[in-house]
Amino acid sequence: MSAGLFISFEGIDGAGKSTHIAGLAEALRAAGRTVVLTREPGGTPLSEQLRALVLNDPMDPLTEALLMFAARREHLLQVIEPALGRGDTVLCDRFTDATFAYQGGGRGFDAEVLRTLETWVQAVPALPTGLRQPDLTLWFDLAPQEAARRLAGARAPDKFESQPVEFFRRVAAGYQARRDAEPGRFARIDAGRPREDVWADVRGAVQAKGWLP
Ligand code: TYD
Repeated sequence: MSAGLFISFEGIDGAGKSTHIAGLAEALRAAGRTVVLTREPGGTPLSEQLRALVLNDPMDPLTEALLMFAARREHLLQVIEPALGRGDTVLCDRFTDATFAYQGGGRGFDAEVLRTLETWVQAVPALPTGLRQPDLTLWFDLAPQEAARRLAGARAPDKFESQPVEFFRRVAAGYQARRDAEPGRFARIDAGRPREDVWADVRGAVQAKGWLP
């Protein structure tokens, strides 16, 4: 059985990752892979219920961080690990980097606590590192001002989307810090260009890993 692949997609709200997730799923399927498309928070019935709460109800920052990780634990055990075990390719719209960026950077929540939660929640003893992380994280990097312009006038914003641009500057800095800590896992995509150029980079990053012809 071939090893599964785990690819996550990150970026501030409005960075435009959604169309490229769908495009990459299609390209990988055309290359013969079985693709599981999923998202965080969410991906299981329970985790989707937690998503509805955490994206809409005001709450304490620790509660918010714990719910993100609670949703993640269910998702990891019920969807991600079984898919990787079958040799499937998992495309996940956001994963733990989003918690470090939004709850850590955006909300200012203690990164050490987040690291402890990450270690508990993503523990997979069979792995050499003992910790499940994406094999590749595509980070759609876009200036917060430009993301705000793109979001204006779109559908009704949720709790995060309605944050001021200053919040997204901190979220972007949170992503940058995660990338600096683990440069080998990240591919930074300049999302401020025309869609075809962004797509060429997305495809290129996956080809560079040898996962697409
Ligand atoms: P998003 O992925 O942008 O989905 P949609 O395109 O449907 O809006 O929305 C998820 C939101 O949840 C986004 O604002 C980021 C936030 N989020 C966190 O704050 N922490 C996390 O750990 C995750 C996974 C998401």
